[in-house]
Amino acid sequence: MKHYVTVNDIDSAKEWIDLARELKQDPFKFKELGERKTLGLLFFNNSLRTRLSTQKAALHLGMHCMIMNFSSEGWALEFEDGTIMDKGKAEHIREAAQVVSQYCDVLGVRAFASLGSKENDEAEIVLNGFKKHATIPILNMESATGHPLQALADLITIRENSTKKNPKVVLSWAPHPKALPHAVANSFVEIMQQNSAIDFSITHPEGYELNPLITKDVPLYYDQDEALRDADFVYVKNWSSYNSYGKVLSTDANWMITEKKLGHAKFMHCLPVRRNVVVEDAVLDSSRSLVMEQANNRTYAAQVALLKILKGL
Ligand code: CP
Repeated sequence: MKHYVTVNDIDSAKEWIDLARELKQDPFKFKELGERKTLGLLFFNNSLRTRLSTQKAALHLGMHCMIMNFSSEGWALEFEDGTIMDKGKAEHIREAAQVVSQYCDVLGVRAFASLGSKENDEAEIVLNGFKKHATIPILNMESATGHPLQALADLITIRENSTKKNPKVVLSWAPHPKALPHAVANSFVEIMQQNSAIDFSITHPEGYELNPLITKDVPLYYDQDEALRDADFVYVKNWSSYNSYGKVLSTDANWMITEKKLGHAKFMHCLPVRRNVVVEDAVLDSSRSLVMEQANNRTYAAQVALLKILKGL
């Protein structure tokens, strides 16, 4: 595998889940694979889980890590070709990506959506800029439209906690005071669709429809109670409007996840989460919450993706 930039780079979900679970039992099993290899991690946005879990995954594989908070420590990058660079941008992606490729064997990039221009965000200017101009494999650590490492960790968590072959999984929108990107929701929708044994549906208020090219024919409910009935897993996430791009159309507290709404289902969230806005304390602090298992599985999701990339070098 050359890159891990979308969940479509997973060739066999079953094989990847089995491998992740094997690595969880014996994290250093392939510690020779990454020896004398360097993983560069460029962060254009903040992170807790992605930064630490990806480093840990690399350490398990024997890799060295080099990390840079690019937005505060790097030169401002120009992504357009043919520009006269006489303003604020000091370095072009063409040089930057090739320079990083001199020092690293694999490169992780985190660059969120701006939520200003749908066209620019969907073009994945930063991720695709590095993918195009770097000469090394790229690992998507959350881009404008996708978070494939999170989605893989979520799928592993569902499989580990499911007592049914065909669990009912619901992605529910929840309120949030700020406009958030669609990346986590998009990748979760995509990975759920890849697993046809999962009975998957989405619920959100009107106006929060995700990109229809991603949601395709996934059942959609505007009535959250109806959607959550008999759910086994409720994946909760806020996102801003896709059609009214980047706008917050509702902060309706009735969409917050409560113990009553959750019923017998397990609660999932990628974190960070705003307590008593997105979900009430009673859910997050209960045994129904899988958020720490999800966070733990981020290490093994990243380790599987890196292992596949290393094997392809
Ligand atoms: N879930 C997730 O990606 O967390 P961070 O933003 O802290 O990396």
